[in-house]
Amino acid sequence: MQYRVKSILLKLVRRSKTAIVAQKIHGNRKMKRRFASGDIETLHGSTHQTKTITESLAYIEEQFDDYLQYSGLKRDDLHDKRVLELGFGDNVGVALKFLASGAAEVICLDKFYSRRDLAQQKEIYKALRSNLREEEKTRFDRAINLNSAIEIDSARLRCINGVALEAAAESLMGEGRPFDLIISRAVLEEIYESDLVFSVMHQLLKPGGYMLHKIDLSDYGMFRSAGMNPLTFLTISERVYRLMASDSGIPNRRPMSYYQGKMEELGYEAKILITDLIDRKGKGDLHPHKEKIELGVDYTESTLAYVDQIRPQLSAAFRELPSEELIVAGIFLIARKPARA
Ligand SMILES: C[S@@+](CC[C@H](N)C(=O)[O-])C[C@H]1O[C@@H](n2cnc3c(N)ncnc32)[C@H](O)[C@@H]1O
Repeated sequence: MQYRVKSILLKLVRRSKTAIVAQKIHGNRKMKRRFASGDIETLHGSTHQTKTITESLAYIEEQFDDYLQYSGLKRDDLHDKRVLELGFGDNVGVALKFLASGAAEVICLDKFYSRRDLAQQKEIYKALRSNLREEEKTRFDRAINLNSAIEIDSARLRCINGVALEAAAESLMGEGRPFDLIISRAVLEEIYESDLVFSVMHQLLKPGGYMLHKIDLSDYGMFRSAGMNPLTFLTISERVYRLMASDSGIPNRRPMSYYQGKMEELGYEAKILITDLIDRKGKGDLHPHKEKIELGVDYTESTLAYVDQIRPQLSAAFRELPSEELIVAGIFLIARKPARA
């Protein structure tokens, strides 16, 4: 009986906005302290842990194909390129695909160390290799040796864990070799200091180089999975939200227009494609990703109703945004740094 009451109370707490906010503030403080004490191991970013080998391969191939398809780059264009992958999580499969296609070097950088099962990782890499063409296998083998443990040649593939991009910038810039490509998937939304991150990436990128980022603009299910409006997270004041999100990796709430403005400010040639909408959760991405979304095709009046219901409560930074922007839950940013300053 006592157990039932406790479990009902817990359920109620999980469905309360105030309780969720309090829990996230607590989590953020805890995360900040943990990182400061050098405890960087986490399950966050352990994307492959729950996947079968086939699912892992599909995830890696999809990411790599997206980077090429939406940037318009061909495999030959990757020859001798230097790539920086931000927030690679628990697997370097995407980096290996770039190397197998001819990239000279990939640096994978992650603020944390995502826990992983090394035996499973090895199986993923073996399966990835088996799908490659002969010349790709030769390049793959130069980067990674799977004969016994997983041995990586750090001259081709370097993994840096425990350092945020913001902090790694100085040493990466000190190497004096800027990158041709900076890529990420589901990472930029987790970095609270977005302006700083863009200024760092801008410095690390070669003139004419590309940034390719898939960015999740949803609430990561924080309020939505408790049955609330998917835009509930935009009702919280910036002061309180910072306490929830500054160090914890929950979404920073930068809307699509932030990225458009940032690219204009930096003078990049940029395109933003829409990958997801607030009421599509569980349905997967919009394929192909779209430059423009249409009422009656991609979304309906009931999608817009989510915005209408909550607009009066949105915090000032979001209240005036167009409904067509507020319903966007994910984007793919393709941006090219000008060839000359
Ligand atoms: C949602 S996971 C995505 C992992 C991987 N890209 C994937 O698609 O499976 C976000 C990753 O970004 C990393 N991350 C968060 N903030 C970061 C920062 N400031 N610098 C570098 N990596 C960061 C996290 O540790 C985590 O591994």
